[in-house]
Amino acid sequence: MESMGQVMQDLLKRVERLRAEALKTSSEAPDENQDLPPKKYNDAPAISTEGCEKCDYTGTINTFRWEQPEGYQIPVQIAVVENCSCHTERMFQKYNASESFNAKERGYTFKTATIDNMNREQFGVAIDFVRDIKRHLELGTWLYIFGDDARVPGASKEQGAILNAYGTGKTYLMQCMANAFSYRKIPAIYVTEERLFSDIKATYNRASEDSEDEVLQRYYSVPILMIDDIFTAQYKEWAEGKLFSIIDERQKNNKVTIMTSNYSLGRIRERLPMNGGKIGSRIDGKAIQIEMLGPDRRALNKNESA
Ligand SMILES: Nc1ncnc2c1ncn2[C@@H]1O[C@H](COP(=O)(O)OP(=O)(O)O)[C@@H](O)[C@H]1O
Ligand SMILES: [Mg+2]
Ligand SMILES: [Zn+2]
Repeated sequence: MESMGQVMQDLLKRVERLRAEALKTSSEAPDENQDLPPKKYNDAPAISTEGCEKCDYTGTINTFRWEQPEGYQIPVQIAVVENCSCHTERMFQKYNASESFNAKERGYTFKTATIDNMNREQFGVAIDFVRDIKRHLELGTWLYIFGDDARVPGASKEQGAILNAYGTGKTYLMQCMANAFSYRKIPAIYVTEERLFSDIKATYNRASEDSEDEVLQRYYSVPILMIDDIFTAQYKEWAEGKLFSIIDERQKNNKVTIMTSNYSLGRIRERLPMNGGKIGSRIDGKAIQIEMLGPDRRALNKNESA
């Protein structure tokens, strides 16, 4: 037979347990967040809390469409999650390609550019690229605008004219594109390679507000990245590595990348001993190339400062 003491002890233990449970539930209730929107909005990632009515404040829109894939007897319903248009608008607030341009550069447009026999075809390709930008954003097409000194003698002979690789309007053409993207409110970054590296370097400063990772993420993820005068830096190992990771990330994620350069693809490895070959082949695989040899327009526009 159990002793009286044992029964008492069990009873006390039970009381203790019940009290603990009661305390636990009372700290959970009551719901003091009744006046706030449903929890899913709060839990969503930062960008999603900035949506509009159209996307129910989520930043994305779910649509369903019917498809009948090959080999299937009946159509199947496919769910598609698409970014709401408010998402692009928010991106454009952050990434406006012509933001850093001066008044003169903002005036460089396809409508006002001098177009002649030496750049007509090149402008045509760039104009088509802008016209088809939606498709290129889906496909992740790249554009490589280049003029290489090493090709000047051969091309000059072939065309019976004295051609140049510098001052032929590579930057000008890219800035026309940048202005066109801004006009269409398409998020894009325009940056010289020099500026890109100094942006990254600035984050090594202890007082820097941005981390290196934040800056790199910007260059990895912006829908359109325009790098002017790529492959001109005095590469230190770190710089080559950074440039490679930007190119590589953008290639893997199919992000439109537009570059101007003074090197044809085959010569990139001369500039970047570690990664030049890999970078060249990545560009080769994705880019439409525009070669710009022609008159030095800097000399033609004498009263313009370069
Ligand atoms: N199509 C054009 N119409 C008017 N000006 C141009 C055109 N192309 C180039 N320029 C002008 O010629 C100069 C050299 O052009 P730039 O784009 O800097 O050459 P690159 O980048 O090929 O060295 C600049 O002052 C630029 O404004
Ligand atoms: Mg240039
Ligand atoms: Zn929206």
